[in-house]
Amino acid sequence: MSAQLSTAVHYRPMMAADLPVVSALEGSVYAFPWSIGNFRDCLEAGYDCWVAAERGVLIGYAVLMVAVDEAHLLNIAVASPLQRQGIGKAFLQYMIGVARHRGAQMVYLEVRPSNVAARELYREAGFQQIAIRPGYYPAHGGREDALFLGITL
Ligand SMILES: CC(C)(COP(=O)(O)OP(=O)(O)OC[C@H]1O[C@@H](n2cnc3c(N)ncnc32)[C@H](O)[C@@H]1OP(=O)(O)O)[C@@H](O)C(=O)NCCC(=O)NCCS
Repeated sequence: MSAQLSTAVHYRPMMAADLPVVSALEGSVYAFPWSIGNFRDCLEAGYDCWVAAERGVLIGYAVLMVAVDEAHLLNIAVASPLQRQGIGKAFLQYMIGVARHRGAQMVYLEVRPSNVAARELYREAGFQQIAIRPGYYPAHGGREDALFLGITL
């Protein structure tokens, strides 16, 4: 069970000024992080880039791409020391709400089979496996498949 989620967590659109902090967080939670340029490209492309903040401190971020009636969750992360407190679960629900608000009827995402935390998060939220994308991710000593998941809104 998650601990009680602090009501102090709020969400706001990511800004260019957030990029150094987002990029530092990204480097701390992923073995193969996005570059700061990847995030900048998402902002400039008009993707839904959001941050979660607690008392003004950025503690998570998510990137959602919406195309007509489909949304693709490209990234979601919570700062390591604050993980397993319900923040990711609430943030995922918030991003699903953003997708719905934009008119999406499906949300898709990819996840590594080895990413037990994220897989459980998505399973609990109701995502279902649609396909496997072979060799999708870089990995130490080779490539790792992606599980392609989706949820109907
Ligand atoms: C995936 C991630 C966003 C989850 O955020 P979080 O704030 O830790 O998640 P929550 O505390 O809300 O947990 C929600 C559910 O996810 C699952 N979960 C989270 N961490 C888990 C872990 N370490 N092991 C197993 N299940 C886990 C549980 O089902 C949990 O529900 P429960 O606590 O009621 O059992 C976070 O682990 C993270 O940032 N990881 C690095 C980035 C990443 O891998 N992003 C996803 C890319 S596809």
